[in-house]
Amino acid sequence: MKSIVVRQPEELVIEERELPQPQAGEVRVKIRLAGICGSDSHIWHGHNPFAKYPRVIGHEFFGVIDAIGDGVTDRVLGQRVSVDPVISCGHCYPCRVGKPNVCTSLVVIGVHRDGGFSEYACVPASNAWPIPDGVSDRHAVMVEPFTIAANVTGQVSPIPEDIALVYGAGPMGLTTVQALKGVYGVSQVIVVDQIPERLAMAERCGADWAIDNRQHVLSAWLEEKQIRPTLIVDAACHPSILQEAVSLASPAARIVLMGFSSEPSSVAQQGITGKELAIYSSRLNAGKFPVVIDWLQKGLIDPDKLITHVMDYRQVHDAMTLFERDRQHCCKVLLTFAD
Ligand code: NAI
Ligand code: MN
Ligand code: ZN
Repeated sequence: MKSIVVRQPEELVIEERELPQPQAGEVRVKIRLAGICGSDSHIWHGHNPFAKYPRVIGHEFFGVIDAIGDGVTDRVLGQRVSVDPVISCGHCYPCRVGKPNVCTSLVVIGVHRDGGFSEYACVPASNAWPIPDGVSDRHAVMVEPFTIAANVTGQVSPIPEDIALVYGAGPMGLTTVQALKGVYGVSQVIVVDQIPERLAMAERCGADWAIDNRQHVLSAWLEEKQIRPTLIVDAACHPSILQEAVSLASPAARIVLMGFSSEPSSVAQQGITGKELAIYSSRLNAGKFPVVIDWLQKGLIDPDKLITHVMDYRQVHDAMTLFERDRQHCCKVLLTFAD
Protein backbone atom coordinates (compact mmCIF):
# COMPACT_ATOMS: atom_id res chain seq x y z
CA MET A 1 0.00 0.00 0.00
CA LYS A 2 1.01 3.63 -0.42
CA SER A 3 1.42 5.88 2.62
CA ILE A 4 2.27 9.55 2.97
CA VAL A 5 5.20 9.68 5.34
CA VAL A 6 7.16 12.47 6.93
CA ARG A 7 10.52 10.69 7.22
CA GLN A 8 12.06 13.57 9.12
CA PRO A 9 11.29 17.29 9.30
CA GLU A 10 10.95 18.76 5.77
CA GLU A 11 10.98 15.32 4.09
CA LEU A 12 7.48 14.38 2.91
CA VAL A 13 7.33 11.29 0.66
CA ILE A 14 4.90 8.71 -0.65
CA GLU A 15 6.23 5.35 0.44
CA GLU A 16 5.34 1.75 -0.42
CA ARG A 17 4.61 -0.02 2.86
CA GLU A 18 3.43 -3.48 3.77
CA LEU A 19 -0.33 -3.82 4.20
CA PRO A 20 -0.85 -3.78 8.01
CA GLN A 21 -2.83 -6.54 9.75
CA PRO A 22 -5.28 -5.48 12.45
CA GLN A 23 -4.21 -6.50 15.96
CA ALA A 24 -6.70 -7.79 18.54
CA GLY A 25 -9.28 -5.09 19.16
CA GLU A 26 -8.46 -3.24 15.93
CA VAL A 27 -10.04 -2.81 12.54
CA ARG A 28 -8.33 -2.01 9.26
CA VAL A 29 -9.81 0.93 7.38
CA LYS A 30 -9.46 1.32 3.61
CA ILE A 31 -9.22 5.09 3.45
CA ARG A 32 -11.43 7.05 1.06
CA LEU A 33 -10.90 10.66 2.15
CA ALA A 34 -8.61 12.54 4.52
CA GLY A 35 -8.42 16.21 5.50
CA ILE A 36 -5.31 18.36 5.75
CA CYS A 37 -4.96 20.23 9.04
CA GLY A 38 -2.46 22.78 10.32
CA SER A 39 -0.92 20.16 12.57
CA ASP A 40 0.00 17.99 9.54
CA SER A 41 1.99 20.97 8.27
CA HIS A 42 3.59 21.39 11.67
CA ILE A 43 4.79 17.79 11.67
CA TRP A 44 6.08 18.17 8.11
CA HIS A 45 8.14 21.21 9.07
CA GLY A 46 9.30 19.84 12.42
CA HIS A 47 7.21 22.21 14.56
CA ASN A 48 5.17 19.65 16.48
CA PRO A 49 6.88 18.82 19.78
CA PHE A 50 4.93 15.54 20.16
CA ALA A 51 5.72 14.04 16.76
CA LYS A 52 8.18 11.17 16.34
CA TYR A 53 9.65 10.38 12.91
CA PRO A 54 9.16 8.69 10.54
CA ARG A 55 5.40 9.26 10.73
CA VAL A 56 2.40 8.61 8.51
CA ILE A 57 0.53 11.87 9.11
CA GLY A 58 -3.22 12.58 8.98
CA HIS A 59 -5.74 12.52 11.82
CA GLU A 60 -8.89 13.49 9.88
CA PHE A 61 -9.93 10.44 7.89
CA PHE A 62 -12.82 8.35 6.69
CA GLY A 63 -13.07 5.00 4.93
CA VAL A 64 -14.51 1.51 4.93
CA ILE A 65 -13.65 -1.38 7.27
CA ASP A 66 -11.89 -4.07 5.23
CA ALA A 67 -10.42 -6.34 7.93
CA ILE A 68 -11.29 -7.04 11.57
CA GLY A 69 -8.96 -8.11 14.39
CA ASP A 70 -9.63 -10.72 17.07
CA GLY A 71 -12.21 -9.91 19.70
CA VAL A 72 -14.01 -7.20 17.71
CA THR A 73 -17.72 -8.06 17.68
CA ASP A 74 -19.41 -4.72 17.10
CA ARG A 75 -17.95 -3.69 13.73
CA VAL A 76 -18.56 -5.33 10.34
CA LEU A 77 -16.73 -5.55 7.04
CA GLY A 78 -17.81 -2.87 4.59
CA GLN A 79 -18.95 -0.47 7.32
CA ARG A 80 -18.26 3.22 6.58
CA VAL A 81 -16.37 4.75 9.49
CA SER A 82 -14.79 8.02 10.63
CA VAL A 83 -11.86 7.62 12.96
CA ASP A 84 -11.48 9.46 16.26
CA PRO A 85 -7.73 10.16 16.55
CA VAL A 86 -7.79 10.25 20.38
CA ILE A 87 -6.60 7.02 22.04
CA SER A 88 -6.73 7.04 25.83
CA CYS A 89 -6.02 4.61 28.67
CA GLY A 90 -9.47 4.74 30.26
CA HIS A 91 -8.34 4.68 33.89
CA CYS A 92 -6.13 7.69 34.70
CA TYR A 93 -7.61 10.76 36.43
CA PRO A 94 -8.47 12.72 33.26
CA CYS A 95 -10.02 9.61 31.69
CA ARG A 96 -12.10 8.97 34.81
CA VAL A 97 -13.44 12.54 34.84
CA GLY A 98 -14.49 12.35 31.18
CA LYS A 99 -11.46 13.99 29.55
CA PRO A 100 -9.74 11.21 27.61
CA ASN A 101 -8.46 13.93 25.29
CA VAL A 102 -5.91 14.85 27.96
CA CYS A 103 -5.21 11.28 29.12
CA THR A 104 -1.86 11.04 30.91
CA SER A 105 -0.78 8.51 28.28
CA LEU A 106 -2.57 10.16 25.35
CA VAL A 107 -1.87 8.78 21.89
CA VAL A 108 -3.08 10.80 18.90
CA ILE A 109 -3.37 8.90 15.61
CA GLY A 110 -1.32 10.74 13.00
CA VAL A 111 0.90 12.35 15.63
CA HIS A 112 2.11 9.76 18.16
CA ARG A 113 1.34 6.78 15.93
CA ASP A 114 0.79 6.31 12.20
CA GLY A 115 -2.23 8.08 10.79
CA GLY A 116 -4.69 8.21 7.95
CA PHE A 117 -2.79 9.67 4.97
CA SER A 118 -2.45 6.15 3.68
CA GLU A 119 -4.39 3.68 1.58
CA TYR A 120 -5.06 1.64 4.75
CA ALA A 121 -4.79 2.25 8.50
CA CYS A 122 -5.31 -0.05 11.50
CA VAL A 123 -7.05 1.64 14.43
CA PRO A 124 -8.74 0.52 17.65
CA ALA A 125 -12.25 -0.62 16.75
CA SER A 126 -13.72 1.71 19.37
CA ASN A 127 -12.15 4.68 17.55
CA ALA A 128 -13.87 3.77 14.27
CA TRP A 129 -17.32 5.36 14.42
CA PRO A 130 -19.96 3.99 12.02
CA ILE A 131 -21.40 6.62 9.69
CA PRO A 132 -25.13 6.43 8.90
CA ASP A 133 -26.14 6.01 5.24
CA GLY A 134 -27.64 9.49 5.10
CA VAL A 135 -24.29 11.14 5.81
CA SER A 136 -22.10 11.57 2.70
CA ASP A 137 -18.40 10.67 2.48
CA ARG A 138 -17.49 14.37 2.24
CA HIS A 139 -19.37 15.10 5.42
CA ALA A 140 -18.02 12.04 7.19
CA VAL A 141 -14.40 13.09 6.69
CA MET A 142 -15.24 16.43 8.33
CA VAL A 143 -16.43 14.91 11.61
CA GLU A 144 -13.07 15.39 13.33
CA PRO A 145 -12.69 19.15 12.72
CA PHE A 146 -16.26 19.65 13.93
CA THR A 147 -15.51 17.65 17.09
CA ILE A 148 -13.10 20.43 18.01
CA ALA A 149 -16.03 22.86 17.85
CA ALA A 150 -18.20 20.39 19.77
CA ASN A 151 -15.59 20.26 22.49
CA VAL A 152 -15.21 24.06 22.63
CA THR A 153 -18.94 24.67 22.79
CA GLY A 154 -19.46 21.71 25.13
CA GLN A 155 -17.27 23.47 27.71
CA VAL A 156 -19.57 26.48 27.90
CA SER A 157 -23.11 25.35 26.92
CA PRO A 158 -24.03 28.35 24.74
CA ILE A 159 -27.58 29.72 24.98
CA PRO A 160 -29.56 31.70 22.38
CA GLU A 161 -29.15 34.96 24.27
CA ASP A 162 -25.37 34.71 24.20
CA ILE A 163 -23.43 37.27 22.22
CA ALA A 164 -20.48 35.28 20.90
CA LEU A 165 -17.18 36.71 19.67
CA VAL A 166 -15.00 34.31 17.70
CA TYR A 167 -11.40 35.25 16.92
CA GLY A 168 -10.15 33.65 13.71
CA ALA A 169 -12.03 32.51 10.60
CA GLY A 170 -9.81 29.55 9.79
CA PRO A 171 -11.24 26.02 9.84
CA MET A 172 -11.47 26.08 13.65
CA GLY A 173 -13.24 29.42 13.88
CA LEU A 174 -15.65 28.45 11.10
CA THR A 175 -16.64 25.10 12.61
CA THR A 176 -17.24 26.92 15.89
CA VAL A 177 -19.43 29.53 14.17
CA GLN A 178 -21.51 26.80 12.55
CA ALA A 179 -21.98 25.05 15.89
CA LEU A 180 -22.90 28.27 17.68
CA LYS A 181 -25.51 29.20 15.06
CA GLY A 182 -26.76 25.83 13.83
CA VAL A 183 -26.70 23.76 16.99
CA TYR A 184 -27.15 26.25 19.81
CA GLY A 185 -29.05 29.01 18.01
CA VAL A 186 -26.87 31.77 19.43
CA SER A 187 -28.54 34.98 18.30
CA GLN A 188 -25.48 37.15 17.69
CA VAL A 189 -22.14 35.81 16.49
CA ILE A 190 -19.29 38.20 15.68
CA VAL A 191 -16.19 36.90 13.90
CA VAL A 192 -12.88 38.76 13.65
CA ASP A 193 -10.11 38.00 11.21
CA GLN A 194 -7.73 39.90 8.98
CA ILE A 195 -8.32 38.16 5.64
CA PRO A 196 -11.38 39.44 3.71
CA GLU A 197 -12.02 36.11 1.94
CA ARG A 198 -12.09 34.30 5.27
CA LEU A 199 -14.45 36.87 6.70
CA ALA A 200 -16.75 36.21 3.74
CA MET A 201 -16.61 32.49 4.56
CA ALA A 202 -17.54 33.29 8.16
CA GLU A 203 -20.64 35.09 6.89
CA ARG A 204 -21.54 32.08 4.74
CA CYS A 205 -21.13 29.92 7.87
CA GLY A 206 -23.69 32.06 9.67
CA ALA A 207 -21.79 34.89 11.34
CA ASP A 208 -23.97 37.92 11.94
CA TRP A 209 -20.98 40.26 11.74
CA ALA A 210 -17.56 39.63 10.23
CA ILE A 211 -15.04 42.27 11.28
CA ASP A 212 -11.56 42.92 9.92
CA ASN A 213 -9.60 44.04 12.95
CA ARG A 214 -6.97 45.61 10.71
CA GLN A 215 -9.62 47.96 9.35
CA HIS A 216 -11.57 48.45 12.58
CA VAL A 217 -10.55 48.82 16.20
CA LEU A 218 -12.63 46.01 17.65
CA SER A 219 -13.20 47.67 21.03
CA ALA A 220 -14.49 50.84 19.32
CA TRP A 221 -16.72 48.86 16.98
CA LEU A 222 -18.26 46.95 19.91
CA GLU A 223 -18.69 50.12 21.92
CA GLU A 224 -20.44 51.89 19.08
CA LYS A 225 -22.84 48.95 18.76
CA GLN A 226 -23.10 48.76 22.56
CA ILE A 227 -22.26 45.07 22.46
CA ARG A 228 -20.49 43.18 25.22
CA PRO A 229 -19.65 39.59 24.28
CA THR A 230 -20.84 37.00 26.77
CA LEU A 231 -18.92 34.14 25.15
CA ILE A 232 -15.52 34.54 23.50
CA VAL A 233 -13.67 31.80 21.60
CA ASP A 234 -10.05 32.33 20.62
CA ALA A 235 -9.55 30.33 17.43
CA ALA A 236 -6.80 32.68 16.21
CA CYS A 237 -4.57 31.83 19.14
CA HIS A 238 -2.22 34.76 19.38
CA PRO A 239 -1.08 35.20 23.01
CA SER A 240 -2.17 38.87 22.97
CA ILE A 241 -5.81 37.93 22.41
CA LEU A 242 -6.54 36.76 25.96
CA GLN A 243 -5.85 40.20 27.35
CA GLU A 244 -8.12 41.86 24.79
CA ALA A 245 -10.82 39.24 25.37
CA VAL A 246 -10.78 39.87 29.11
CA SER A 247 -11.22 43.59 28.58
CA LEU A 248 -14.02 43.24 25.99
CA ALA A 249 -15.98 40.55 27.84
CA SER A 250 -19.29 41.17 29.56
CA PRO A 251 -19.38 40.47 33.29
CA ALA A 252 -20.04 36.74 33.84
CA ALA A 253 -18.75 35.92 30.35
CA ARG A 254 -16.91 32.74 29.42
CA ILE A 255 -13.71 32.66 27.38
CA VAL A 256 -12.40 29.54 25.62
CA LEU A 257 -8.75 29.23 24.58
CA MET A 258 -7.59 26.79 21.90
CA GLY A 259 -3.99 27.83 21.29
CA PHE A 260 -0.68 26.14 22.00
CA SER A 261 1.63 29.16 22.00
CA SER A 262 4.53 28.93 24.42
CA GLU A 263 4.62 32.75 24.68
CA PRO A 264 3.03 34.15 27.84
CA SER A 265 -0.16 36.20 27.78
CA SER A 266 -0.32 39.22 30.06
CA VAL A 267 -3.56 39.46 32.03
CA ALA A 268 -4.34 41.23 35.31
CA GLN A 269 -6.33 39.29 37.92
CA GLN A 270 -8.56 42.33 38.40
CA GLY A 271 -9.83 42.08 34.84
CA ILE A 272 -10.90 38.48 35.38
CA THR A 273 -12.14 38.48 38.98
CA GLY A 274 -13.77 41.92 38.72
CA LYS A 275 -16.22 40.46 36.18
CA GLU A 276 -16.07 36.89 37.51
CA LEU A 277 -15.05 35.63 34.08
CA ALA A 278 -14.64 31.91 33.48
CA ILE A 279 -11.66 30.92 31.37
CA TYR A 280 -11.77 27.50 29.71
CA SER A 281 -9.44 25.71 27.39
CA SER A 282 -10.20 23.00 24.87
CA ARG A 283 -7.93 20.39 23.31
CA LEU A 284 -8.89 17.84 20.65
CA ASN A 285 -12.19 16.17 21.61
CA ALA A 286 -13.58 14.17 24.48
CA GLY A 287 -15.89 11.58 22.97
CA LYS A 288 -17.54 14.03 20.58
CA PHE A 289 -17.71 11.81 17.47
CA PRO A 290 -21.29 10.62 18.17
CA VAL A 291 -22.30 14.19 18.96
CA VAL A 292 -21.09 15.51 15.59
CA ILE A 293 -22.47 12.52 13.66
CA ASP A 294 -25.84 13.39 15.20
CA TRP A 295 -25.46 17.05 14.15
CA LEU A 296 -24.74 15.89 10.58
CA GLN A 297 -27.71 13.56 10.53
CA LYS A 298 -29.97 16.37 11.67
CA GLY A 299 -28.46 18.80 9.13
CA LEU A 300 -27.49 21.31 11.84
CA ILE A 301 -24.04 21.95 10.32
CA ASP A 302 -22.80 22.05 6.73
CA PRO A 303 -19.19 20.91 6.23
CA ASP A 304 -19.37 21.70 2.48
CA LYS A 305 -19.06 25.37 3.36
CA LEU A 306 -15.50 24.71 4.53
CA ILE A 307 -14.28 22.39 1.77
CA THR A 308 -12.44 24.43 -0.86
CA HIS A 309 -10.29 21.76 -2.56
CA VAL A 310 -10.37 18.00 -3.20
CA MET A 311 -7.15 16.50 -4.61
CA ASP A 312 -5.66 13.08 -5.29
CA TYR A 313 -3.30 11.89 -2.52
CA ARG A 314 -0.48 11.62 -5.05
CA GLN A 315 -0.59 15.42 -5.19
CA VAL A 316 -0.10 15.73 -1.43
CA HIS A 317 2.95 17.94 -1.77
CA ASP A 318 1.06 20.48 -3.91
CA ALA A 319 -2.04 20.16 -1.73
CA MET A 320 -0.19 20.91 1.49
CA THR A 321 1.79 23.75 -0.08
CA LEU A 322 -1.44 25.30 -1.39
CA PHE A 323 -3.04 24.87 2.04
CA GLU A 324 -0.13 26.66 3.71
CA ARG A 325 0.35 29.49 1.20
CA ASP A 326 -3.09 30.40 -0.15
CA ARG A 327 -4.95 31.31 2.99
CA GLN A 328 -7.35 33.52 1.00
CA HIS A 329 -8.80 30.66 -1.02
CA CYS A 330 -7.99 27.54 1.00
CA CYS A 331 -9.91 26.35 3.97
CA LYS A 332 -10.30 22.57 4.17
CA VAL A 333 -8.31 20.63 1.58
CA LEU A 334 -9.30 16.97 1.20
CA LEU A 335 -7.18 14.14 -0.20
CA THR A 336 -8.88 11.28 -2.04
CA PHE A 337 -7.45 7.76 -1.74
CA ALA A 338 -9.70 5.12 -3.23
CA ASP A 339 -12.32 5.45 -5.92
P1 NAI B 1 -5.70 29.06 10.76
O1 NAI B 1 -4.31 29.56 10.90
O2 NAI B 1 -6.18 28.60 9.43
O3 NAI B 1 -6.72 30.21 11.26
C1 NAI B 1 -6.39 31.21 12.15
C2 NAI B 1 -7.06 32.49 11.68
O4 NAI B 1 -6.86 33.51 12.66
C3 NAI B 1 -6.47 33.03 10.37
O5 NAI B 1 -7.51 33.19 9.42
C4 NAI B 1 -5.83 34.34 10.77
O6 NAI B 1 -5.95 35.35 9.75
C5 NAI B 1 -6.61 34.74 12.02
N1 NAI B 1 -5.89 35.58 12.96
C6 NAI B 1 -4.61 35.46 13.40
N2 NAI B 1 -4.32 36.41 14.28
C7 NAI B 1 -5.43 37.15 14.43
C8 NAI B 1 -5.77 38.30 15.23
N3 NAI B 1 -4.88 38.84 16.06
N4 NAI B 1 -7.00 38.78 15.14
C9 NAI B 1 -7.92 38.23 14.30
N5 NAI B 1 -7.68 37.16 13.54
C10 NAI B 1 -6.44 36.63 13.59
O7 NAI B 1 -5.84 27.92 11.83
P2 NAI B 1 -7.02 26.89 12.25
O8 NAI B 1 -6.77 25.59 11.62
O9 NAI B 1 -8.35 27.52 12.11
O10 NAI B 1 -6.66 26.74 13.78
C11 NAI B 1 -6.73 27.88 14.62
C12 NAI B 1 -5.89 27.69 15.85
O11 NAI B 1 -6.44 26.66 16.64
C13 NAI B 1 -4.42 27.31 15.60
O12 NAI B 1 -3.63 28.10 16.45
C14 NAI B 1 -4.34 25.87 15.99
O13 NAI B 1 -3.09 25.54 16.55
C15 NAI B 1 -5.41 25.77 17.04
N6 NAI B 1 -6.02 24.46 17.11
C16 NAI B 1 -6.37 24.02 18.32
C17 NAI B 1 -7.00 22.83 18.48
C18 NAI B 1 -7.40 22.38 19.82
O14 NAI B 1 -7.93 21.28 19.93
N7 NAI B 1 -7.21 23.17 20.85
C19 NAI B 1 -7.31 21.97 17.33
C20 NAI B 1 -6.96 22.54 16.06
C21 NAI B 1 -6.34 23.75 15.97
MN1 MN C 1 -7.32 18.64 12.64
ZN1 ZN D 1 -6.09 7.97 30.57
